[in-house]
Amino acid sequence: MALWGGRFSEPTDDDLRRLNDSLPFDKRMFEQDIAGSIAYARAIEAAGVVTGEEADALVQGLYAIRGEFDAGQFVFDRRDEDIHTAVERRLTELIGAVGGKLHTGRSRNDQVATDFRLWVIDAAEKIDGQIHELQVSLVRQAEPHLTSVMPGYTHLQPAQPITAAHWLMSFFWMLARDRDRLADLLRRASVSPLGAGALAGTPFDVDREALARALGFNSASPNSLDAVSDRDFAAEFIFTLALAGVHLSRLAEDVILYSNPLFGFITLDDRYSTGSSIMPQKRNADPMELARGKTGRLVGNLAGLMTTLKGLPSTYNKDMQEDKEAVFDSFDTLAVLLPVVCGVVRTLHLNRDRMRAALGDELLATDLAEYLVRKGMPFRQAHHVVGRAVRIAGDEAIPLSRLPLAVLRELSDLFEEDVKAVFDFDQSIARRRALGGTAPEAVAEQINAAKAWLLAHQPPDESPS
Ligand code: ARG
Repeated sequence: MALWGGRFSEPTDDDLRRLNDSLPFDKRMFEQDIAGSIAYARAIEAAGVVTGEEADALVQGLYAIRGEFDAGQFVFDRRDEDIHTAVERRLTELIGAVGGKLHTGRSRNDQVATDFRLWVIDAAEKIDGQIHELQVSLVRQAEPHLTSVMPGYTHLQPAQPITAAHWLMSFFWMLARDRDRLADLLRRASVSPLGAGALAGTPFDVDREALARALGFNSASPNSLDAVSDRDFAAEFIFTLALAGVHLSRLAEDVILYSNPLFGFITLDDRYSTGSSIMPQKRNADPMELARGKTGRLVGNLAGLMTTLKGLPSTYNKDMQEDKEAVFDSFDTLAVLLPVVCGVVRTLHLNRDRMRAALGDELLATDLAEYLVRKGMPFRQAHHVVGRAVRIAGDEAIPLSRLPLAVLRELSDLFEEDVKAVFDFDQSIARRRALGGTAPEAVAEQINAAKAWLLAHQPPDESPS
């Protein structure tokens, strides 16, 4: 007999069961479900709903069930609709009718909201730890490349010289914001719905704040209707993972381009590149193409969940059961991807010579304009003068630095012998030493700030106990 069979005279249609059952995917919340039930058994004991003996029996039974899950010995029944019914069914098998007292004042609506929050909190902490690892790899890879000069691009057109360290560190800060977002959503996720009942609250004397703390939440929800229907935590989590995916995808795109022989700036380690079954010369950046590709799926999960939630009437609706697969899939996708991206970054070979060889004089056109600015010319005018110099050099098919001084002086008599010094990539880099610039000393400071950030944001399992 199903959990709610009393009012029905016919069993549920098999096809409906297949549609309705969430056990195939929500069984991965067994730990959270059992933890929630153990805390709830103690809460209704304190409320005088069950005796101390009855509560002990409930808790012992729940421990035994946890043991069965841990040992991989829990046997599901074909009538188990979801993880909540499976655990309760087994509890009653183990300890008898008193097992049926556990659900007093509780609904699967507050139960699933509780389990799912606990699961998301745990998952967010795992992703946080993995992103931390990637940040560490970026810093380690950046440190030896403070003076490795490479072309910087806007619109994927050569723009200005930058350093490889500066390029790598740009991703560090994107990931820092992702981790900030995780910390922020954890704060809002840490609110316990348990004791909200089906929608209207519990008629028993349950101390919901104590129950919340027993489960590791910061507080209990202030409105039972909102408690059973709030899936903001799931939406925020799935968004944060999608945006982290977008960051990985953009890093991936750079790595794919820069490892193309036309660029040749970087080489993926053998362990992190793949070959072709027909073309022996191939060295493909498959892991990074997967980072780019899988991000489409992370964004799709976000769009799916938002669409499911939109337009739902108040409180719990079965549509909400759709929340879990999207969240699980985003977590699984990113949890498999992050260690690989971390490995790619950690083992990346940066080819300093190829980067330097790719530097063209045109990357210093801005510096040339700035030379005129330092001699008093308004920037707008300097931009125009250098634009004409670039055009003449192009017409003559000579590098900008080879334009004779006499030609430059026809454009402006501010050009003098010292203009030659402009055409030095290292000097161009060195001048950009204001906060956040690409100069080696500025990037060294940036790396120090990044290390301080990492120390202030140690993932839980890594902080000294
Ligand atoms: N399996 C359901 C879910 O994931 C649990 C809640 C069911 N509640 C209900 N009133 N049918 O959402």
